[in-house]
Amino acid sequence: MADKERTETINKKEAETEEAKLIPVYVMGKRYLVPETLTIMKALEYAGYQFIRGCGCRGGICGACATVYRKPGDYHLRVGLACQTVVEPDMYLTQIPFYPANRASYDFEKLTAGPEEIFKLYPEVFRCIACNSCTKVCPMDVQVMDVISAVKQGNIERAATLSFSCIQCGLCVSRCMGELPQYHIMQLARRIYGSRIAPRAEHLNEAVEVAKSEKCQQALQKLMKSDVKQLRELYKSREMEPEMAGEDWTPAKHDYP
Ligand code: FES
Repeated sequence: MADKERTETINKKEAETEEAKLIPVYVMGKRYLVPETLTIMKALEYAGYQFIRGCGCRGGICGACATVYRKPGDYHLRVGLACQTVVEPDMYLTQIPFYPANRASYDFEKLTAGPEEIFKLYPEVFRCIACNSCTKVCPMDVQVMDVISAVKQGNIERAATLSFSCIQCGLCVSRCMGELPQYHIMQLARRIYGSRIAPRAEHLNEAVEVAKSEKCQQALQKLMKSDVKQLRELYKSREMEPEMAGEDWTPAKHDYP
């Protein structure tokens, strides 16, 4: 998006916020009036909170902003990502930016592709009672219980594939009756799959060779010697892929390493 267009979008959003109706929300029991158009994250900032932790990408990817809330007259405990969920009147909410979970330490280089590696590191995987609470609480709709079942069956490929959308927010751990650290288990399955089981991508090997090449290293050295102003200018003047580019789009400039 061009700078002018981006500024217009920001101004439009600010105008919408100014015009928006104020609604009450309760953060850790305290009532605040916030514009109804805001996400929970922006509403918290509007209410005066400052995010030092519990906020990363603001785009639903990093998993740092898990939130739990209830709505009036509704017994369900609901979950969401603060950066993606829009506030609702009278919601009672709190942030869970981190949830403690047992994390095994291992020397990854020494791990084999066998499921017994996961069984050894996370024997609690067999404490799963298949209640499916983990799946119900996942804001990314990962079928967490199915992933754990795949691990128990020794099917690392299935576990890795099914858990690909996991963003490590930790909400699954917060509801688990068997006290499993699902998100760490799923991450280990993906690591094993990616490094030991999935077929090698030739183009990745080529890219690594290019990155090691002298031409690329010289370009990096040049960048490292640039000051902030030069880097900003370079960044702003870079060629960007148009939003509606087709699959055959290629950059006009081909002088990159
Ligand atoms: S801040 Fe990254 S997922 Fe919300």
